[in-house]
Amino acid sequence: MTKTQKYILISFLILVAVFVGYNFTRQFMTQEREPQPSKILDPAYWQDKYPDIYQSYLRNSNEGDTEFGGEQQIDYIKKYPQISVLYEGFGFSKEYFSARGHVYALEDVINIGRPKPGASCLACKSSDYERLYNKYGEDLFAMDFVQMANEAKYPITCYSCHRNNPGELHITVPHAEIGFKQLDFEIERGSKNCAQCHVEYYIDPDTKAIVLPWKYGLTVEDYERYFDEKNFADWVHPRTGTPLIKIQHPEYEMYRDSPHHRLGMDCNACHMPKMENDQGETYVSHWWTSPLKTARESCLGCHVNHDEQSIADWVNSKQQEVEDKTKEAMDLLVDLIEKLAVRVEEGNIEDDILEQVRNLHRRAQIRWDFIFAENSTGSHHFARAHAYLDESIDLAKQALQILENN
Ligand code: HEC
Ligand code: HEC
Ligand code: HEC
Ligand code: HEC
Repeated sequence: MTKTQKYILISFLILVAVFVGYNFTRQFMTQEREPQPSKILDPAYWQDKYPDIYQSYLRNSNEGDTEFGGEQQIDYIKKYPQISVLYEGFGFSKEYFSARGHVYALEDVINIGRPKPGASCLACKSSDYERLYNKYGEDLFAMDFVQMANEAKYPITCYSCHRNNPGELHITVPHAEIGFKQLDFEIERGSKNCAQCHVEYYIDPDTKAIVLPWKYGLTVEDYERYFDEKNFADWVHPRTGTPLIKIQHPEYEMYRDSPHHRLGMDCNACHMPKMENDQGETYVSHWWTSPLKTARESCLGCHVNHDEQSIADWVNSKQQEVEDKTKEAMDLLVDLIEKLAVRVEEGNIEDDILEQVRNLHRRAQIRWDFIFAENSTGSHHFARAHAYLDESIDLAKQALQILENN
């Protein structure tokens, strides 16, 4: 190597070092100056990068029903007049609509006429919630619902499950994070995101925080034990004086230990199947709806002896049995409430008998409600649906028997 060559090489290396150094410093400095990338709450942000997923997400606004499920909002009070007696004295006796797609979550919670205890109700309805929580801390829970709902813009969006990194799974609902820590097992990867919201919860009467009653486990007995121990009631039935619990959408709990769960399937196995686009490329469906609408992709890979119609018929007939038993339990509960109310009004019932009957009423109603409020009409675990309803019917009958004998 000549002197000149050496000189050129060294100059070149110095140049490279300066260039790299400059860029590194610049990057470092700008990183310090620029704030963290802000929260990407708008699902449209991802439409070019993940067009198929984005299009499937938009399908959550589709109307379209199956025999027992689907996106149309059913007015439960019209469909089941019994609930104005069962939930008497509580908001759900005045207004109760069935659930629909994720894109409606914010709109629907705002439009619902039932009084909202606080802004914590937004936790499962809007991807803005985490931002509001970071801003206001735990004061947020008891803040005015309407005011906070005005500060929120988006319903459930990509951010709710991925934060800014689609493909990674994140928990963004603060109370779910706390709830998950109470469990002595880990919720499965493909169900954990859904279990942020599709579970039973209650609202702490003092702080208005959302709490998952998971101390003893996830069955109805575990919840009953938890609420009994706290002497907790969502409300007291005005005519019978029974302290009652309202169950909310316990999909995860219902599904757990079902035959499909034991096979290792998570929520996404049925509700987020792999679909093909027009070019024959596969993508993960983000249309959260009745899996009977995607039965080919969701079910037929295993249920090879079925076609789309026959598996829907099979499920529907099993759902019909659950529906019939749900109504039977409801009718018995109405009968019990009416008879007990008369006795309470007449004042001709011994205190200890009254206590016993109210206790049976509370236990019968929580079991019925667990199945009624769960959104799959038994499909997630048919055997459990029947077991809880059978217990409910049995408890209500015991209570009626006691009333008759006393
Ligand atoms: C083995 C398949 C399967 C798995 C796994 C599964 N589901 Fe479902 N799910 C169903 C079926 C079937 C229905 C009933 C659909 C109908 O009535 O048309 C349903 C209904 C629902 C509904 C009501 C939908 C509607 O249209 O009314 C919700 C919400 C739901 N499931 C959530 C979940 C969650 C959350 C999980 C995980 C804990 C889960 N599902 C796991 C099969 C499944
Ligand atoms: C309710 C929760 C939820 C929301 C909201 C959500 N996702 Fe997902 N997403 C999931 C889950 C769960 C998986 C994992 C599915 C699997 O592994 O089969 C996933 C997977 C993905 C993947 C990886 C797909 C692959 O092939 O492995 C991408 C990319 C993605 N989501 C993008 C998005 C975008 C974009 C949005 C908004 C338009 C969005 N997601 C909204 C739950 C969600
Ligand atoms: C941030 C809370 C949240 C998360 C996370 C979430 N959901 Fe939902 N989901 C809701 C709410 C709220 C509704 C009802 C929206 C309405 O009625 O306006 C709903 C509705 C649904 C429906 C339609 C119900 C019907 O009767 O039409 C299905 C199906 C569903 N979710 C499945 C899932 C699955 C599967 C996951 C996980 C991949 C999931 N959800 C994650 C809150 C959530
Ligand atoms: C990974 C394979 C697999 C997939 C996917 C699957 N199933 Fe199943 N399913 C099974 C097996 C295996 C059983 C029998 C389990 C048992 O008896 O323990 C079963 C049982 C059932 C039963 C009877 C359960 C009961 O409680 O009586 C119904 C109904 C059913 N499946 C419907 C569906 C529907 C609807 C879908 C799609 C939404 C689906 N399955 C998806 C494997 C699967």
